[in-house]
Amino acid sequence: MAAFDALKTGLQAAPKTWLVTGAAGFIGSNLVEALLLLDQHVVGLDNFATGREKNLAQVQQSVGPERWARFKFKRGDIRDLITCHTACAGVDYVLHQAALGSVPRSLEDPLSTHAANATGFLNMLVAARDAKVKRFVYAASSSTYGDHPGLPKVEDVIGKPLSPYAVTKLVNELYADVFGRCYGTESIGLRYFNIFGRRQDPNGAYAAVVPKWVASMIHNEPVYINGDGETSRDFCYIDNVIQANLLAATTDNPDAVNQVYNIAVGERTTLNGLFEAIRSLLAPKFPHLADFKPVYRDFRPGDVRHSLADISKAQTRLGYAPTHRIGEGLAEAMAWYVQDLG
Ligand SMILES: NC(=O)c1ccc[n+]([C@@H]2O[C@H](COP(=O)([O-])OP(=O)(O)OC[C@H]3O[C@@H](n4cnc5c(N)ncnc54)[C@H](O)[C@@H]3O)[C@@H](O)[C@H]2O)c1
Repeated sequence: MAAFDALKTGLQAAPKTWLVTGAAGFIGSNLVEALLLLDQHVVGLDNFATGREKNLAQVQQSVGPERWARFKFKRGDIRDLITCHTACAGVDYVLHQAALGSVPRSLEDPLSTHAANATGFLNMLVAARDAKVKRFVYAASSSTYGDHPGLPKVEDVIGKPLSPYAVTKLVNELYADVFGRCYGTESIGLRYFNIFGRRQDPNGAYAAVVPKWVASMIHNEPVYINGDGETSRDFCYIDNVIQANLLAATTDNPDAVNQVYNIAVGERTTLNGLFEAIRSLLAPKFPHLADFKPVYRDFRPGDVRHSLADISKAQTRLGYAPTHRIGEGLAEAMAWYVQDLG
């Protein structure tokens, strides 16, 4: 925690201006909240494609009126270059989170995913370059490992993308790298693994597994496991992601810049294990879960069997030190979900 503690103290002493794209989404709204709690000036950009007003309302309540006054929200679309230029004006650091997530969504509608994730990304990179921001940190993805079977995943060994979504995230890394070489833009890509935590949307066809299962269990609806439940993931709590973003934006280690990093915990949990962890946390409050069982169905096409990150690069170069393993993250997130959905 040493690097992160020092960073927070430094930021509070000398506040900076940050642009968070995707500010009304799950990860973006958590970044906005963390920055405002550190007395930073924050610009938020979102077109509410998947983000929610409610997320920003919760941030407003959490940070209080004085800090909320340091937040400027722009409703706008990263597919529009002028919007990106306006949003980047006067900004020190960009945390670019806006994108259309979900592999299945990209299989159904590759054009929309490409427009937001590839064209929108390039617009943001051009705008950040033109505004001479100090650092452009962006949400990359573990989907970039594609069909490479090796475990744990190390940053420079990737396979072929398995979905249009994964292609867009790989393209982001290629553009960021080439902007570093051609224009001197400083960027850092954070390959998020399976992130979970407060404000992650449990609704809709493309909801992530943790909030979807929590909502189903609370409402006594079936929980579906695709396959035998022995599929595994490196689940990572949102607080670890906040830490990684702030470290990446402000690091003065020259070896850390224009690189990509795995952001995860470095531990693997099976879906069966995840089901039991969530069930046992909720059971004391919801007696119907005492004997609750999942419903198994076919494997989902395109899903990789196992995912596990090697996080040593982020630890060594950025000083990343995850504070929450999956159990601690789930316990914190559950309190929020029970309040929000219960
Ligand atoms: N959640 C995860 O596990 C995970 C894993 C890997 C990568 N990521 C990446 O992290 C980022 C944030 O994901 P999230 O989980 O918070 O998803 P989210 O859907 O909650 O947030 C994305 C936000 O981007 C906004 N957005 C989408 N298209 C936009 C556009 N054209 N213009 C402006 N805003 C737009 C949405 O309205 C939303 O608020 C995304 O880039 C995603 O691909 C997330």
